[in-house]
Amino acid sequence: MDFRGKRHAASHNNFTLSLTITMHLQSRFVPPSLPGMYEHETLKKLFIVSHPLIQHKLTHMREKSTPKREFKAALKEIAMLMGYEITCDLALTTKTIETPIQKMEAPVLKDAPPVIVPILRAALGMADGLEEIMPEAQIGHIGLYRDHDTHQPVEYLIRLPQQSGQSYILIDPMLATGNSAKHAVDVLLRQGVPMNKISFMALVAAPEGVKVFHDAYPEIPVYVAALDEKLNETAYIVPGLGDAGDRLFGTN
Ligand code: URA
Repeated sequence: MDFRGKRHAASHNNFTLSLTITMHLQSRFVPPSLPGMYEHETLKKLFIVSHPLIQHKLTHMREKSTPKREFKAALKEIAMLMGYEITCDLALTTKTIETPIQKMEAPVLKDAPPVIVPILRAALGMADGLEEIMPEAQIGHIGLYRDHDTHQPVEYLIRLPQQSGQSYILIDPMLATGNSAKHAVDVLLRQGVPMNKISFMALVAAPEGVKVFHDAYPEIPVYVAALDEKLNETAYIVPGLGDAGDRLFGTN
């Protein structure tokens, strides 16, 4: 299976580490007319999923007045919509079926759907959305918390399905420092998952986090709904949407 976006714009060349104005502009002014997703100008494995419904729902999530119930619903819906886009290259085969009228060769997925791997805990709300569109998908869990002082991830739970050649979609609503995302990939690699079977999907990313991730794993595609401006001094994304886990579960 290859869901790495053959239909995206042609690849751009050099990845410069300067977090340029272009990045900020791209995150602010998502071209509404572009279907599907587009490749970032300098980060060749960053794809911004620009569907208007996704952008509209994300704005609702960002608003601080949005209540928990609506935040949770939008998170799930965005995950579904992004999942629909990023699985556009799933391989198909056919099988013979019988409609009420006659037999036909009808398309079906060739391989098992990708394993969905939420990084706990906020990504649980996204896993629900992906599972809705791929009910057969296996779900793995990676539990990481962020050490308050170092901002480094600490593992507290790893539970993954048996490996049998599937692809993996790692999910986390926020790609902030990039440390958790990088650590989660390390976990999958440690379990023997090939690098070319891994993708990462987030709602909102900070340029700093994308850079950390891209430096570590330049070949792994990252799908986001928005690339925001920066991280603040406590490693929250600006403007972001606050603490995704707290808003999803009503904690603080
Ligand atoms: N995690 C969050 O939930 N929000 C941020 O802005 C950064 C990390």
